[in-house]
Amino acid sequence: MTHKNAEVAAAAKKLLAKLDNLDNKRAILREPELAALFDRLKTLPAGKGRAEFGKEVNSLKKNLENLIAKFQDSSLESRVSQIDVTAPFDVNTAADQKPKLLPADDGSRHPLMTEIEEIVDIFARMGFTAVESRELDDDYHMFGSLNFPADHPVRDDYDTFVTEEGYYAPAHTSIMQNRVFKSQKPPIRAIIPGRCFRKDDFDARHENTFYQLEGVYVDEGINAGHLVATIRTWLSNYFGKELDIKIQPFYFPFTEPSFEFAASCIFCDGKGCNICSYSGWIELGGCGMIHPNVLKAGGIDPKKYTGFAWGFGIDRLVMLKYNIEDVRHFHSGNLKFLRQFR
Ligand code: DAH
Repeated sequence: MTHKNAEVAAAAKKLLAKLDNLDNKRAILREPELAALFDRLKTLPAGKGRAEFGKEVNSLKKNLENLIAKFQDSSLESRVSQIDVTAPFDVNTAADQKPKLLPADDGSRHPLMTEIEEIVDIFARMGFTAVESRELDDDYHMFGSLNFPADHPVRDDYDTFVTEEGYYAPAHTSIMQNRVFKSQKPPIRAIIPGRCFRKDDFDARHENTFYQLEGVYVDEGINAGHLVATIRTWLSNYFGKELDIKIQPFYFPFTEPSFEFAASCIFCDGKGCNICSYSGWIELGGCGMIHPNVLKAGGIDPKKYTGFAWGFGIDRLVMLKYNIEDVRHFHSGNLKFLRQFR
């Protein structure tokens, strides 16, 4: 690269040195030295000098782009990372007919994964360990271990996909409670983020695939006050403001007593707005004191230990945090939506 203009030549030298050290070679095009040259171009008066300078700057940019392409061509890894696995593909397609590949630096993390990590972090600071959930399970973990009476209509609330062999795509993360109780000794403090499935029709608030955050705390002398304090601390940390909390009676087979959990609306601070339907409260999930039968099934003596549990929809929390109006954005693969979270 030779440049007559001293300013362009100096910038070129700096940029080339930087290029060597960059993992993502494309990032060189965003370096300040290049931007400064374009800024300077804008300030020059129209005329020959400006045209010459413009030519030099553009040729520098072109050279950098060629170098980037060369680097990408020569590294197998970057070539693999450029393959758009979602593009229609046929091995017999001629090379020049193949769909265009996405540039390597266009990928990003899914916002739900980033938020799950944030939630796990908050709970880690509160002494909770994260346990992974699973995406296929049996009748015992879906229902039996959770004190669902056989053939009871409450099972209909958990209508999900079933394989021919009779395995379920889990309708809730509570499937993991029994495993956690059997593999740990009190005091048990665990959270379980995981993917859940329901036979739901789509709308702005319902998806057939979504994420839940399950939590369990078992020790001697645990009561519902600990439950409220724990969830309140977590949510206040997550939303970055103190929230008012309300619990009201509900029914789940695996808790007794069971509650529905609501927080003061984060948008209007409980005054009432269209997001909370002018109630001032937002329902966030279910919780309660773990039913003695569930503790027993997990090998824990309910006479000695008590505990609380909860299950909240993660998609819903993230929607509230970023004021996202439609849950279907999460799985739409719409890059305009996803890139806002980069
Ligand atoms: N599993 C319940 C659901 O998906 C949510 C839930 C409620 C989980 C209460 C719990 C709990 O652990 O204690 O509807």
